[in-house]
Amino acid sequence: MKILNDYVLIIKNKIFKPIMIGGMGVDISTEELALGAAKLGGIGHISDAMCPYVCDKRLGTHFQTKKRQQFVEKVRSGLVNFAKWDYNETYEASKRYVHNVMSKKIGNGDIFINIMEKLTMGDSLTTLKARICGALDGGIDGITLSAGLHNSSLKLFEDHPRFRDVLLGTIVSSVRALKIFIRSAKRVDRLPDYIVVEGPLAGGHLGFDLDWKNFDLKTILKEVLDYLKEEGIKIPVIPGGGIFTGKDAVDYMELGASAVQVATRFTIAKECGLPEEAKQAYLQAEESDIEVNCSSPTGYLMRMLKNSPSLASNTKPNCESLGYLMDDKGYCAYKEAYDKAPVNQKGEKFPIKDKMCICTHFMKCACYTCGYYTYRLKETTIKLLNGKYYIPPMEDIFNDYLFTADGSITLPVLDDKKVCAVAY
Ligand SMILES: Cc1cc2nc3c(=O)[nH]c(=O)nc-3n(C[C@H](O)[C@H](O)[C@H](O)COP(=O)(O)O)c2cc1C
Repeated sequence: MKILNDYVLIIKNKIFKPIMIGGMGVDISTEELALGAAKLGGIGHISDAMCPYVCDKRLGTHFQTKKRQQFVEKVRSGLVNFAKWDYNETYEASKRYVHNVMSKKIGNGDIFINIMEKLTMGDSLTTLKARICGALDGGIDGITLSAGLHNSSLKLFEDHPRFRDVLLGTIVSSVRALKIFIRSAKRVDRLPDYIVVEGPLAGGHLGFDLDWKNFDLKTILKEVLDYLKEEGIKIPVIPGGGIFTGKDAVDYMELGASAVQVATRFTIAKECGLPEEAKQAYLQAEESDIEVNCSSPTGYLMRMLKNSPSLASNTKPNCESLGYLMDDKGYCAYKEAYDKAPVNQKGEKFPIKDKMCICTHFMKCACYTCGYYTYRLKETTIKLLNGKYYIPPMEDIFNDYLFTADGSITLPVLDDKKVCAVAY
């Protein structure tokens, strides 16, 4: 019986274990998780979502607070309509954050950064360019372009000296989206080095509408592989979304995948950036506790736990310091919903049910976005006597994918002290 470790992923001339841990913003796929994947010979992602905030939190910089100081008075006195991110500050935050992560990298694997087009930051193309160039100058191994068609993203950095040597990938959820990206890539003569095909069971934002149940990853993967074959293009294709066991992964490799992109299994890892209470909430979840909703102001659907603290809250938008989701005109769907929401007798806003303040809630780790199989996470670890679940190191999860053959899951091994606390 084959195991995932029997395969290798080759991108350009580099050889990896065929596991890519997907980017999870904001700082859910932490540097510790990404560094762990690289050390084990795979590929880990950091995320550039709200990078100035993450850089401040991790490195003690002041990018976000400085923006607030610069803008709060100007916005209040009507001198400007809304607070914009500055190119240089955005660039510098990305560069410093990435450089710090890359300086710690050991092992034969790589660290990539997930860069979402939908993170418009008040000036979409300018800030996207700053984020990409900052990551390149910080020494990132690879860039995965996500959450958008990225029709004009490559053009933004075609003059950068690393344009051709950085490993470059895109995430698509359909062959149609891939065709659009390939067309724009051909215009700058720079095809991607890998393609992630994300199906409807993934976590985070989804590239599907409310009829997501009508789609399945294996069919989309086949369509993508057929299209690339027809076009005579040889690029590794990496499916993701609902690949929960080593056997699931092997099944995809047999269909022609070059590796798998996985995330949900790692949301409960020790190195994952979610706080303990969120990890335990994921572990306690049943299938009926998970929904796909329209609360994200990006306009994309998002899968999350129904008890996510981000839902039905009346958080006041804090766009002078945050504002990561504002478009080029200063519009954010949550801000609009907040402004329109009625107030109670005390003058407080009623909870806003259909949209969430994504910046604030991701900053507080209070948006419990998750993959479809989150309700199965409890099968992957051990329940302790106190009713909580054991939080395993990422290495155990990584090795379970690589070495477990038959669709089962190898539970983490606890040391003697912890075994005393185990219920069964
Ligand atoms: C908690 C969480 C946050 C995520 N955040 C992002 C993100 O910021 N950007 C992105 O492109 N994908 C994001 N994803 C999608 C993953 O990178 C990955 O492609 C997908 O979840 C893989 O499916 P799986 O979770 O079933 O293994 C997220 C997934 C999870 C579970």
